[in-house]
Amino acid sequence: MTSPDLARAAGERTPQDPAAALIADPYTGYARLRAAGPVHRITGPDGLPVWLVTRYADVRQVLADPRFALDKRHATPGNYRGFALPPALDANLLNMDPPDHTRIRRLVSQAFTPRRIAALRAPVEQVADKLLDAMAPHGRADLITEYAAPLPITVICDLLGIPAEDRRDFRAWTDSLVAPDPARPQDARAAVGAMLAFFTALIRRKRAEPGDDLLSDLIAVRDEHDRQDRLGEDELTSLAFLILFAGYENTVHLIGNAVLALLRHPGQLAALRADESLIPGAVEEFARFDGPAPLAIRRFTREAVAVGGVTVPAGETVLCALASANRDGEQFPDPDRLDVRRRDNGHLALGHGIHYCLGAPLARLETAVALTALLRRFPRLELDVPEEQLRHRPSLRARGLLELPVRF
Ligand code: HEM
Repeated sequence: MTSPDLARAAGERTPQDPAAALIADPYTGYARLRAAGPVHRITGPDGLPVWLVTRYADVRQVLADPRFALDKRHATPGNYRGFALPPALDANLLNMDPPDHTRIRRLVSQAFTPRRIAALRAPVEQVADKLLDAMAPHGRADLITEYAAPLPITVICDLLGIPAEDRRDFRAWTDSLVAPDPARPQDARAAVGAMLAFFTALIRRKRAEPGDDLLSDLIAVRDEHDRQDRLGEDELTSLAFLILFAGYENTVHLIGNAVLALLRHPGQLAALRADESLIPGAVEEFARFDGPAPLAIRRFTREAVAVGGVTVPAGETVLCALASANRDGEQFPDPDRLDVRRRDNGHLALGHGIHYCLGAPLARLETAVALTALLRRFPRLELDVPEEQLRHRPSLRARGLLELPVRF
């Protein structure tokens, strides 16, 4: 399928810009694509061809299949442009395959076990309460800037051990990478330079003054004499970079999308208010219904592979549409209905297979705590602008609101 075909399938009014349709109304666009076929050859955002996988069963298969590699060396030269990160940020888990991926993931996975993360519940509740205290007197707030963003940023900075004076609203950096302004390519380059400088300085400082935190632990692993083969210096900076950004970016938008979904579905909101024990299941449903990562990281075929009956040649770029898989009626009964009581919710919003989200227990905890605290504090929460005025970030890869003005 070419770009104009994708545009038509996605219901776009301006066929020159296929991505715009999926950004504006991803679920209608993806429903049309799913109905039209399991795999579509489209022009990706960088102007080069990619294969888009739309159905649940196929997406799940691709995510678990080692014939799909994340390491860019498997792309046919000239077939993939991608965004060029310096080696000190690029050597991260989402560009790696086994055995490097296995080695590094093992080093960090102990920090993210459900037990370790459960111990963070009280500190996360304190962060949420403090943010709500600050909002409460005003009667209105932008829920993204004042709540959904600072909560995960604070939690991940605490976990990594980023000192208070080094913290900032990292969203400006992330946005210029995941939702770049096409008119200002220099912003992305500047953001990369700033991030590299930030992580290099942070690690230098932590090396000199270690603390009781994840980053100090990782530096210790790196620096132990007999263990230097376990984590290279570029891998260390890249891992810190990935954990920081993966650790807050998606969580901000899962919280924001969840609150919006509740404001649009008052019956579901009332159900959660009446019975807080529904919240963990509801978090899974928000991730399925309107998750923050509509696409998995691109993969490259190591050899020709059949997906949904379509043969994808070797060296091609494959995108798995998680947002589409999560609305596939073959997998989910009544897929476009938000149902906080949904059972057997095998959504793919956090991925699947060896790259399954490392931070999933933390993402679940933060979202559940954020929603519980918000609903308890404000018995009357409503949108403070007409719904049509809400705007999403202009990105195919990131689904989230720019602002969510509410009153309470
Ligand atoms: C709602 C919040 C989150 C969502 C929707 C989300 C989503 C995802 C997805 C879809 C993947 C797999 C990508 C792929 O296979 O293509 C992933 C991987 C990852 N996530 Fe998350 N994530 C969230 C929160 C977090 C948090 C809080 C952390 C860390 C504290 C985190 C750290 C990671 C890391 C390190 C990976 C790479 C794992 C690997 O390659 O082995 N994520 N995430």
